[in-house]
Amino acid sequence: MGSTLITRIGTLVTNDPALGDGGPLGQIEDAALVLDGGTVAWAGPAADAPAADEVYDAEGRAVVPGFVDSHSHLVFAGDRTAEFNARMSGRAYSAGGIRTTVAATRAASDEVLEANLTHYLDEALRQGTTTFETKSGYGLTVADEARALRIAARHTEEVTYLGAHIVSPDYADDPAGYVALVTGAMLDACAPHARWVDVFCEKGAFDGDQARAVLTAGMAKGLVPRVHANQLTHGPGVQLAVELDAASADHCTHLTPADVDALASGSTVATLLPGAEFSTRARWPDARRLLDAGATVALSTDCNPGSSFTSSMPFCIALAVRDMGMTPDEAVWSATAGGAAALRRTDIGRLSPGARADLTVLDAPSHVHLAYRPGVPLVHGVWRRGARAA
Ligand code: NIG
Ligand code: FE
Repeated sequence: MGSTLITRIGTLVTNDPALGDGGPLGQIEDAALVLDGGTVAWAGPAADAPAADEVYDAEGRAVVPGFVDSHSHLVFAGDRTAEFNARMSGRAYSAGGIRTTVAATRAASDEVLEANLTHYLDEALRQGTTTFETKSGYGLTVADEARALRIAARHTEEVTYLGAHIVSPDYADDPAGYVALVTGAMLDACAPHARWVDVFCEKGAFDGDQARAVLTAGMAKGLVPRVHANQLTHGPGVQLAVELDAASADHCTHLTPADVDALASGSTVATLLPGAEFSTRARWPDARRLLDAGATVALSTDCNPGSSFTSSMPFCIALAVRDMGMTPDEAVWSATAGGAAALRRTDIGRLSPGARADLTVLDAPSHVHLAYRPGVPLVHGVWRRGARAA
């Protein structure tokens, strides 16, 4: 594959403050990009662009880094329409619904699980997502968790072991026995297929001590922690995540001032998942409070059949701007560079020389339209590793 010049870009978001206007988005107007060998070779004003083998005319459209969806649960079967319907009639969300998906997932063949995964990945790609993380957590046996991770690893490097999603129904009367399994034989079978270890630290799932046991066992096997923290109630998840230097504390809906301080002072990214609050009719996480305190904020879909059945990063950006106090610039940064930070990656989430050539061309002159024109299919084209992917 030769080099490609993408020229006549209306607004280019590089996320490199050394480029363009000097702001955090490193924005360049009337810009161009050169892609070569799967990476960005050059970014700057179109008038200064070097020649390349091929030219793509963006005709004034905006270009942003491909979205980095750092939190999803895509290895599953079935759906939970009835549960969603009941919630929209007033029923509260509870972690117990996960059992419905566990039963359907266990009963599904590998082929069905992989076909479902690729279906949602294609859906996400068409909406501009070029990197995604995904988890196990709907198997909850040694064999079912390991197969979920094996299937996920065929499609992404960002694979998370979430055997500690809820206590398996098979261990309903023996939660300690289940934690022993998750930190023992199940971890042994799963660690070779995963990069991350996660736990749902919440009432109805795992308490602080159990969560600590799960995360430290995973760390001893070389996995890096990330935590489902403070989604439904105040709890110990955020403090534990920061204490263990987890890459990310995810949800962060119910935070005390001490939780906000901890996130602002540590390196753990606060990953906000507005699709979950939308779909569970819960209160919104307060992104403004976290940003003003100095925390790093990521936005992700949490795509799963229970609490957030959307694969759309543009939808999450729009919600974050409308309801979580973010500016459009902040939300676009969080959905790209923020997601990269939550995955401890420096090669994605930006479009400056040396970065992976993962980008989204918008049918709009500026990235602000992602929030200004909610619900509109604004993704015009997607390049992954320098090649047109959608
Ligand atoms: O991140 N909170 C825990 N896990 C998922 C929900 C899973 C489900 O309801 O199936 C979440 O929201
Ligand atoms: Fe989740």
